[in-house]
Amino acid sequence: MIMSSLPLGAPAPAESPAQAPILAPVLAIESSCDDTACAILAPDGTILAETVLSQSGHIPFGGVVPEIAARAHLAALPGLVCQTLDAAGLPAGALGAVAASTGPGLIGGLIVGAGVGKGLAVALGRPFIAVNHIEAHALTARLPGLVPGGAPFPYLLLLVSGGHCQCIAVEGVGHYRKLGGTIDDAAGEAFDKVAKMLGLGWPGGPAVEALAREGDPAPWPLPRPLHGRPGCDFSFSGLKTAVAQKLAPYDNGALPRAVAAGIAASFQDAVADIVGDRVVHALDMMPDATLLVAAGGVAANSALRARLDALAQARGLPFAAPPLRLCTDNAVMVGWAAIETMRARLALGLPPVDDLDLLPRPRWPLDQMASRFDATAA
Ligand code: KG4
Ligand code: ZN
Repeated sequence: MIMSSLPLGAPAPAESPAQAPILAPVLAIESSCDDTACAILAPDGTILAETVLSQSGHIPFGGVVPEIAARAHLAALPGLVCQTLDAAGLPAGALGAVAASTGPGLIGGLIVGAGVGKGLAVALGRPFIAVNHIEAHALTARLPGLVPGGAPFPYLLLLVSGGHCQCIAVEGVGHYRKLGGTIDDAAGEAFDKVAKMLGLGWPGGPAVEALAREGDPAPWPLPRPLHGRPGCDFSFSGLKTAVAQKLAPYDNGALPRAVAAGIAASFQDAVADIVGDRVVHALDMMPDATLLVAAGGVAANSALRARLDALAQARGLPFAAPPLRLCTDNAVMVGWAAIETMRARLALGLPPVDDLDLLPRPRWPLDQMASRFDATAA
């Protein structure tokens, strides 16, 4: 259906077959969780157009429902692709490549995004680039103009979202080392669950942050799981249980606002302490890091940002968090990761990527990405 309504236009300029995809704009799709997003980037990373639709169908359920997400992606994506091309003022034929988040994530959404992306790529006779969603978060800081002076490798990425909580050594395009991650909930998941206990809406992070501003944390001490332990794994489930225990006496529904605000403030302090401590350990594990980068929805939290900024400064390192729209799930990061991948392969003299055969995958560990740059596997 989408193909018949696309203005195909003139084909993109072709120099050598290896260069052709990166001499023309890249259209990128993100649909791995609950945001449907599309973007078009010029070969140098300039954003020509970006669109995002946040799904509201999950609100009554207090969290993302995979089946609802997949159906909403399917309903929205074809129109969103056309809208993004219109916004960029480009016919589809001007594209050099099409990219989509192909994992990790919710499989239904990944199938929709990769399916639409592959269909468009085939119709245009352009390569399809399967992008690892975590890799896309990891490389966002390198978008031209985002970090003053650029974001040269190696740097430490703290990824804190509703689905992920990891410290990653970003050593080069395709070269990532996971230093640690959560052993139970992701940080955003903990914010969302605590918000639910406090009777706030979903997603809970912004609501907890707003309530915490008026609260006194002192009367509500909470634990800091794994704080001070070697390594940089995270754990939030004990903290969540401790919040539930503090709230138990108010089970009858009469939760005074001052209590809710105090607990929200104490919880937020605990998260900042835990994450700050884990990041210090991660930096110890990565002495050559030149920069600390935070990404993911929880990186929007001002208390956490202030903590990360302070600890980076104490080590003489710059701290960067992309603007919120590029911190949360978006398609710009997917397009940029595709461009970085195409450039890195070209620099190594490898043939262009074409991932038409690569199936969407709910799990896609970052350490598998290096094989893309293995000349013997090309
Ligand atoms: O990166 P994101 O938009 O989506 C994925 O989960 O991939 O992150 C969403 C998460 C939610 O759990 C939300 O509650 C949390 O980020 N979040 C925040 C804040 N804004 C969003 N958590 C704490 N403070 C915030 N200001
Ligand atoms: Zn994400």
